[in-house]
Amino acid sequence: MALVYLGAMEWSEWRAEFPILQRRNYLNSCSLGALSRSALARVGTFHDEWHTYGASAWYEIWIGRLAELRSRVARMIGARDPEVALAASTSSALSVLGSAFDYTQRNRVVVAALDFPTVAYQWMVRPGVEVVRIPSDDGVSIDPERMAAAIDDRTAIVSVSHVFFTTGAIQQTRPIADAARRHGAFFLVDAYQSAGQVPIDVTALGADALVTGPLKWLCGGPGLAYLWVRDEWIHALRPGITGWFAARDQFDFDIDHFEFKSDARRFELGTPALPTVHSALGAQDIIARTGIVRIRERTSELTQHLLLRLAEHGFAVHGAPEPADRSALVMVPHPDPHAAVRHLAENDIIVDARPGYVRVSPHFYNTHDELDHFVQVLATARS
Ligand SMILES: Cc1ncc(COP(=O)(O)O)c(C=O)c1O
Repeated sequence: MALVYLGAMEWSEWRAEFPILQRRNYLNSCSLGALSRSALARVGTFHDEWHTYGASAWYEIWIGRLAELRSRVARMIGARDPEVALAASTSSALSVLGSAFDYTQRNRVVVAALDFPTVAYQWMVRPGVEVVRIPSDDGVSIDPERMAAAIDDRTAIVSVSHVFFTTGAIQQTRPIADAARRHGAFFLVDAYQSAGQVPIDVTALGADALVTGPLKWLCGGPGLAYLWVRDEWIHALRPGITGWFAARDQFDFDIDHFEFKSDARRFELGTPALPTVHSALGAQDIIARTGIVRIRERTSELTQHLLLRLAEHGFAVHGAPEPADRSALVMVPHPDPHAAVRHLAENDIIVDARPGYVRVSPHFYNTHDELDHFVQVLATARS
């Protein structure tokens, strides 16, 4: 049963919403956000409707849910409803978007060396496209001026993460956005690791497109991604990969004619994962009620506490030095991260490993005690 919340809740009150917190010390929200009762309730509603109405629920109910989700996403990132499309994954959203450009005049795509690899892969496999990777000077984030300087009239697309999956650093985007605009290049932001933990405003980012999804800090589960495209570009872009959800007259089933929808749904392909649409909506309720600004305050405070505890136990951290540039994704250098993660799991502490690092990611529902316990077990294993 969905809970009804009245007013702002204490942080500790949210914990009952997430059953995993009663079973484990769960500190891995940057891989998979915790499943909430609210998300589960929405999935239950979907199943009931499936039992009751079968396929007729599509027209009467579920198409409306897709619209509801696009609208929720638009609100969260400071965009308008018609600018948001649903995709099966970031990779499929980028494949469709990438297919809409002509690379004969502009053949370069500029990415950050710290970006999630799927971003570069989209263009590495396209014949004739040159992928330019901008290295990181400090191994933590990308100098935006250096990235801006790499953009020229040969650049079709420039892409950067809002929060880097490798370091948790929050990237400054404005100089990149300005340079992209000056040279007529398209500016894409991968916000998969920021949505749900850091406020997003597509106008402030200066982006032309943004990809994200419900899997991680939004706690909505796997099976979907979100693509936002700035209105001016929607009309200019005609994807070379498509499907019936992109067709203006989708339900005419006319095999002889195809015209793109006039809004961002022209980037959609086929039937979206309805269970995830519902779990994402349920989780979105919690994020909205909690408030992303408050979540950022809370996760910043938890991260600060974690860094202090780690320092007390002699652990270095690989990340942005300034709190304002730091998210709640924390990388702890470790000689054998996989062994450490296994040892922590034996103690009911769930974190993740990346080459050379233990990756820890507290969300708003975690506590100081959980972080203390994590550091203590990590330190004990070392000694
Ligand atoms: C920054 C970033 N982008 C994208 C993805 C996911 O891509 P996809 O939705 O194609 O699995 C991840 C998830 O691991 C990520 O951390």
